[in-house]
Formats: sequence, structure tokens, C-alpha cells
Amino acid sequence: MAVGIFDSGLGGLTVLDAVQKRLPDVPFVYFADSAHAPYGVRDADDIYALTTAAVSRLFEAGCDLVILACNTASAAALRRMQEGWVPRDKRVLGVFVPLIEALTERSWGDNSPPREVAVKHVALFATPATVSSRAFQRELAFRAIGVDVEAQACGGVVDAIEDGDMILAEALVRSHVDALRRKMPSPDAAVLGCTHYPLMEDVFQDALGPEVRVYSQADLVAESLADYLGRHPGMLGPGAQGGYLTTGDPRRVSDGATRFLRRQIGFEAA
Ligand code: DGL
Repeated sequence: MAVGIFDSGLGGLTVLDAVQKRLPDVPFVYFADSAHAPYGVRDADDIYALTTAAVSRLFEAGCDLVILACNTASAAALRRMQEGWVPRDKRVLGVFVPLIEALTERSWGDNSPPREVAVKHVALFATPATVSSRAFQRELAFRAIGVDVEAQACGGVVDAIEDGDMILAEALVRSHVDALRRKMPSPDAAVLGCTHYPLMEDVFQDALGPEVRVYSQADLVAESLADYLGRHPGMLGPGAQGGYLTTGDPRRVSDGATRFLRRQIGFEAA
């Protein structure tokens, strides 16, 4: 009954941690494509090829349902995968929709026409590939009207986090927040549109100030997954065991993951 969680690297662990707490009886298989991270500077074809290879490995590990805990893959590859690649008995879901439903005050699967919502000025922080896909703005436009979105492509932050250089990551986050503020001086909400960024959430909040509400995905995705599995219990795959797979150096990736989650995590070669 395993469920797969995929990211290019360590960022998806923020989602994994939340889904493990929300669904303690479900075994999760986590896949970090560390050899190819970051995805955020790659083109859409490349992201599609890497993401489908990783998801295939999670299907092999007994997962019928895979969550792309990676906004870059969700933005650049998910729709193409769902349209022609995902086998009929499997499901691949992204992390955008739960976030946008929270931002636009909608409950799961509410597909009513777009309407006015409380937030008016939204700052989006994401990778260069996610920003250039405009997937966030597209999904938002299905649900809300009159929302001004200013996006900041946060080059370098994922690399710094993957390298464990949190001093550089903090400096980069502060400079990206400054750059965003030059374009939108007073956002009322900020979206952390990359699953690596919750690891820097305190820095984003501090740089943005207390009046800006920061939305990050982990808990929203966990709630949405619990709801989905409640409605589709058959999507718990045949795999009986959770685990951690990486295309990178298992020892190095395990060290990074253990540091972030503050518990022992052991990755194996994928
Ligand atoms: N954590 C990812 C995301 O949510 C991936 C970032 C990257 O590999 O550049 O976008």
C-alpha cells in the first residue's frame, strides 16, 4: 500500500514529513533525483524525461500513486504526463492545486467559475523553470479574478540548500525578497512555490515582515492527499515497504536529509 513521493532532491522531504505525520500508517517511498538537481534551470523536455524516469522507478517500487513534490516538475511535466504517459491504473498528482485552492479559499475539487478572493497582491517565489512556465498564474486564473501575481525566479537557492550551504541560501533568499519588493512593494500573501523553500520559511517570513501571510505547501498537500486516499482507497499501491531512493551518492544525500528532518534517514541507490 505504498505511495511515492518524488522531488529533484531534498525539497520534497518537507512534503514527505507532513504526509508521514498526517498518514502514519501509509508507507511512503521517497525518490530524490539528486544526480540531476536542480531541475529549475532545465528546459521542459529535459524535466519531462527525468521526471518520467523517476516516476517509473516509483511504480516499480509498488506505488500506484505518485505525488510530484516538486513544483518545477508539476509545472513543466505533469500535464504532459497525465495526457499521454501515465498508465490507466496509476495516478500522478502535483503540488500546485492544493496550494491554489487554499489561496483562493476553495475546498477540494471545487470547479465553480473564478471569483473575487481576499488576497489581491501575491508574491510567488519559485524556480526559474516554474516561473517561466506561468503554470501558477494559469491555475490561479481558473479559480480567482482580480489577483495580481508578481513572480520572482529564485536562482541559486536550491543549489545552496542541496549543498547544505544555509548561509548562502539565506543571503540569496533575502536578495530575492528585496528584488520582489522592488516590483511589488506590499504583497499581502507570499507563496513558496518550491518545496525546498519551506526549509528557509523563517527567513522568507522575516524578510517579508509579519504583515505578509506566507503559504507553504507541505501541510496543504498532506491534507489533500488524506482526502484523496479517503475517496480512492484503491490507489494505495501493492508495495508494502517505504524507503528512500536517490540517483545521487546515498551517503551524502542521507546526511543532508538527516540534517533537515532531524532524524536518521538512510537513502539507497535508486
Ligand atoms: N523542489 C523543487 C520544486 O519544488 C525543485 C527545485 C529544483 O530542482 O530546481 O520546484
